Amino acid sequence: MLALAVLASGSGSNLQSIIDACRDGELEGSVRVVIGNNSKSGALARARAAGIPTVHLSSKTHPDTDEREQAMARALAESDAQIVCLAGYMKLLGPKTLTAFDGRILNIHPALLPKYGGQGFYGAAVHEAVLAAGDAESGPTVHLVDEIYDHGQVLAQSRVSVHSDDTPDILAARVLEQEHLLYVETLQRIATGEIVL
Ligand code: GRF
Repeated sequence: MLALAVLASGSGSNLQSIIDACRDGELEGSVRVVIGNNSKSGALARARAAGIPTVHLSSKTHPDTDEREQAMARALAESDAQIVCLAGYMKLLGPKTLTAFDGRILNIHPALLPKYGGQGFYGAAVHEAVLAAGDAESGPTVHLVDEIYDHGQVLAQSRVSVHSDDTPDILAARVLEQEHLLYVETLQRIATGEIVL
């Protein structure tokens, strides 16, 4: 059983797919804690609805960066998580967290990295750039996290076609559908030992 901590601040649809997959036995794992910097996010609401402990950590709860990182370290340690999954978490992780979970922090990005990654490439900006470039394909990437945005080793990708009449929203929805499958599938490959971190 893979013990997971999920860091999420957005709508939480990737978190939900992980929760559902654990519940349905499609993923041999359990979500031990959900940490987010937005107390009103869909992600924290989904975690609460599933009975998963939540931790809200932000510059409001912990104005001091070091104290915030210590609180993050404590929450992760208390959860006994083996793997940290970022799922729509917009903050860079601090050095202590990166060191403590070196090689065991995953993120999902809505484009085929190394294309359309890095600072500023989030949300609609990613899909706008794909459309502006006229790419025929896009799709999500699951990768390891290091101290640079969207930079760590790629673990898995899946592809969708880009249609000539796509808007950023339509493309985002097509990619998001694949994100839900790819994240769960990649975590399950880690659970079975097919991917060794
Ligand atoms: C996803 O598009 C993911 O690729 C990106 O943030 C978004 C989170 O969506 N990192 P959700 O909160 O899981 O619905």
